[in-house]
Amino acid sequence: KMIPVIMAGGSGTRLWPLSRAMFPKQFLNVASDQSMLQETVSRTKNWSVDETMFLCNEDHRFLVAEQLRAMNENSARIILEPAGRNTAPAIALAALDIVEKHGDSLMMVMAADHIIENQPAFDVAVEQAKALATNDKLVTFGIVPTAPETGYGYIKRGNAINENGYDVEAFVEKPDLPTAEDYLASKDYYWNSGMFMFKASLYLSELAKFSPEILTACKAAYAQSASDLDFVRAGKEEFLASPDDSIDYAIMEKTALAAVVPMDAGWSDVGSWSALWDVDTKCENGNATNGDVILTGTKNSLVHATSRLVTTVGIEDTVIVETKDAVMVAHKDKVQDVKAIVNELKSRD
Ligand code: GDD
Ligand code: MG
Repeated sequence: KMIPVIMAGGSGTRLWPLSRAMFPKQFLNVASDQSMLQETVSRTKNWSVDETMFLCNEDHRFLVAEQLRAMNENSARIILEPAGRNTAPAIALAALDIVEKHGDSLMMVMAADHIIENQPAFDVAVEQAKALATNDKLVTFGIVPTAPETGYGYIKRGNAINENGYDVEAFVEKPDLPTAEDYLASKDYYWNSGMFMFKASLYLSELAKFSPEILTACKAAYAQSASDLDFVRAGKEEFLASPDDSIDYAIMEKTALAAVVPMDAGWSDVGSWSALWDVDTKCENGNATNGDVILTGTKNSLVHATSRLVTTVGIEDTVIVETKDAVMVAHKDKVQDVKAIVNELKSRD
C-alpha cells in the first residue's frame, strides 16, 4: 500500500511578484500548460495507490478542488490547515488520518511545486524507496548538487544499505554558504529533494520522540476535525497551538532512521527566479522570456511580462518580472533576497 501525500500549503514568496499569498507558485503554470500541482498529481498516475491526499491551507481549498476537478481527479482527500504551521504538523495530520482510516500505509510525501523531467527515472527511485521504507526507514531522495545552494537540505551519505540506498550519516537543513561550499567540494552530500517516503506510523513515532508538542497539538486538531465534501478540516484552535516547524528541522535532522535513495530524474525545485531561469528554454544569448518583451544587447537574463511591454537594453544576469501592480528588478545571483521585499510588504499591511 502507498498513499501519495501532496503538500500544497507553501506561500511561494520567492517567486514574488508572480506568486502571491492568494495564488502561490504550486497553482501557477510555470513550465507547462498544467499547474505545478496538476503536474505533481500526474506523476503518481503509474503507481498503484489507494488514495491521494492533499495538504493545503483552508484559503486555497477551492483552488485545489478546482484544479483537481479539471484533471478528473475525483478520489482526492483534501486535508485543510486553518493556518500554515509548516510541513511537520501538516504531514502529522496526514499520518494520523492514514493510521485512522487504513491502519497504516507507506506515505509518499511530495511537494506540489517541483519539476521532474524524467518520469521513468523517478518511478525507479520510488520503487527503490519502497523497499527501504517498508523496512522502517525514513527515505529521502538525494540529488547530486551542482551549486552551493543555501535554500536546500544537505544529506551526508553513510553506509550502503543495499545497491540502491544508503544510511544518512547527517542531514543539515539550509546550511550557510561556507558550509554549503564545503559540502559541495566533499562530494559526500546530496541535496534533499524535499520528498519523503515512510510508514505513517513511523513518522508519528519519530515525531513523538523529537517533537512531542507537534504531535500532541495535531492529535487534538485531528480529533476535532470535521469533514465536508472532500475536505477534512482540522480543529482550528488545536492546530494553531502547534509549533511551526518543517519536517527537515523537526525530524530529518534528528532521526537515526533516515535513508537516502540517489535520484537523477531532472528534478528541480523552482524555488527562485534563478532556478526558473535554469530550467527555462533560453535563446542563444541565454535569455528566458515570457510575454510581450523586446531585448537588445541583453544576456543571461529572465524577463517576464504579464500586462505591459517590457524592454531591456545592454543588461546581463538580471531578472525582471512585471505584473499589473508590481515590478521587480533583481540581480540573478541575489534573487533569494526577494523574501526581504515580501517581508517588508507584509509589515506594511
Ligand atoms: N500543506 C502545507 N502546509 N504545505 C506546506 C506548508 C504548510 O504549512 N509549508 C510548506 N508547504 C509545502 C510547500 O508548498 C512545498 O510544496 C513543500 O511543502 C516544501 O516547502 P518549502 O517552503 O518550499 O520548503 P523549502 O523549499 O524551503 O525546503 C524544502 O525543500 C527543499 C527542496 O526543494 C526542504 O525539504 C529542503 O530540505 C529541500 O532541500
Ligand atoms: Mg520549496
